[in-house]
Amino acid sequence: MEIERKIVAAVKAALSELYGQQAPESMVQLQKTREEFEGELTLVVFPFAKMSHKRPDETAREVGDYLVAHVPEVVSRYNAVGGFLNLSINAGQWISLLQDIAANPTYGLTPATDESPLVMIEYSSPNTNKPLHLGHVRNNLLGWSLARIMEACGNRVVKTNIVNDRGIHICKSMLAWLRWGNGETPESSGKKGDHLIGDYYVAFDKHYREEVKQLVAQGMDEEQAKQEAPLIREAHEMLVRWEKNDPEVRALWRRMNEWVYAGFDETYRALGVSFDKIYYESETYLEGKEKVEEGLEKGIFYRREDGSVWADLTKEGLDEKLLLRSDGTSVYMTQDIGTAKLRFQDYPIDKMIYVVGNEQNYHFQVLSILLDKLGFRWGKDLVHFSYGMVELPNGKMKSREGTVVDADDLIATMIQDARQMSEDKVNKLEGITDEEAQEIARIVGMGALKYFILKVDARKNMLFNPEESIDFNGNTGPFIQYTYARIRSILRKAEAQGIAVPAELPACELSQKEVSLIQHLQGFATAVRQAGKDYNPSCIANYCYDLVKEYNQFYHDFPVLREEDEEKRAVRLALSAAVAQVVKNGMSLLGIEVPERM
Ligand code: ARG
Repeated sequence: MEIERKIVAAVKAALSELYGQQAPESMVQLQKTREEFEGELTLVVFPFAKMSHKRPDETAREVGDYLVAHVPEVVSRYNAVGGFLNLSINAGQWISLLQDIAANPTYGLTPATDESPLVMIEYSSPNTNKPLHLGHVRNNLLGWSLARIMEACGNRVVKTNIVNDRGIHICKSMLAWLRWGNGETPESSGKKGDHLIGDYYVAFDKHYREEVKQLVAQGMDEEQAKQEAPLIREAHEMLVRWEKNDPEVRALWRRMNEWVYAGFDETYRALGVSFDKIYYESETYLEGKEKVEEGLEKGIFYRREDGSVWADLTKEGLDEKLLLRSDGTSVYMTQDIGTAKLRFQDYPIDKMIYVVGNEQNYHFQVLSILLDKLGFRWGKDLVHFSYGMVELPNGKMKSREGTVVDADDLIATMIQDARQMSEDKVNKLEGITDEEAQEIARIVGMGALKYFILKVDARKNMLFNPEESIDFNGNTGPFIQYTYARIRSILRKAEAQGIAVPAELPACELSQKEVSLIQHLQGFATAVRQAGKDYNPSCIANYCYDLVKEYNQFYHDFPVLREEDEEKRAVRLALSAAVAQVVKNGMSLLGIEVPERM
């Protein structure tokens, strides 16, 4: 920023001295000079023609002359192309900018203070009847990255999760386990707890469909059969017993949920995500009921003859929304109201972000209005970070049921593939232990998965192609990781050869490529700010890719260690180190680790 700020000040002085005019800062626009012109920063002169009453190119020349005469330490030369004034900046300015970036390990990241806004980000939010799948993977990666980005923009962030641990879905798994489980446990079967429960959920569904089919064969209407099949009736009875706190049902429910949580924890650990505070629907749904009763008393909601409670949102252009069923049981929305209440009690939330798939757009539109009506400060402006579906090209990674892509399978496959890739490489890493090789494979496999998903605009549906993701070339995580590892290797070699980067960088000439790279490094701060403003992790992914591409071009054209001019070598080493550092920080905002070697 420093360089731009100096120029802006000098341009304002020029306009005042040359034309006797005061220009607002916003009028002084600087942009990166286009590649076909000489110079590094370009001033847009058109807006000043009104002040000078001269042609734009003439105005440009007058301002250019002024800058060269008055701030020669910043602007060394200029050329005017129509209304564009291309400025050549003194190399010393760029070098001192590079020095500032290199000396600041958290360049571009703004720390929060006690007064910073508190942003709560909800993500993951699984149901407890089955293991996490590819959709959850996208959710978790987006949620984690968004949290890191909001933190980097100077917010206090609380990462939260609502576990939908009660309801008919878990009762189905419980019932199937009682029927056909023979006491099977994660220990006895060697299955991960969430997978075990998922298997019983699938078993329930299979038997249930058979029952429905039989009833239909006996002449019953299909809709009726779906309601009256003995299995579904029993599941409902179980739910009622659960709500009544039946000790037996509750004990089984607790036991099975514990298995699921142990399984989820493993997946979360593998994904590298965590939460500051976890809420459970079983503890929030009653709060929701209370809040709805409160709204009823205040006249925000109304009760129908059958006893059910509704919100009328027709004035808002929406429909009428059920909040409590006639039997008094709560619905999905009730739970969200209760969860909001507890969260607000626990934290002074300024902004609430829900990371939830776009199939729930309507739900969150309604939730926002309801929370606002109920007096939640952040209700009206809650952010539904709505993301699209992920699909896989048909093939090997479909899991047992042949429908969903299991998160654990996916993670394991990615790591295996990364391991295989490095074993197939021509120049393999020398002298590393099996353990180190496995750790690199983990970092690279996860990097491939995460980057591939996060580089896409979150709102869009996407196709996840594992093979493409792990390519070491092109816009992939491994390509960026590889560039990082290569820089680290250069820096290690420099150290081994006793070549140190001086604390005070020498002022030497810079090539256009080097200047451009320094400008790009500087842009990290802007990219972070933009990503936070737009809630957009893909902005960081694209930034990292462009930076690394530009570094590789520079590295291809210019020697670093082999450069004989000591001053140039020092600057190039510092430049390399700064790129590595920014890449590491940028990737970390995506939740992606970078390996020292690969
Ligand atoms: N568990 C829900 C599901 O799997 C998602 C919950 C989203 N979060 C929320 N606050 N409603 O569909």
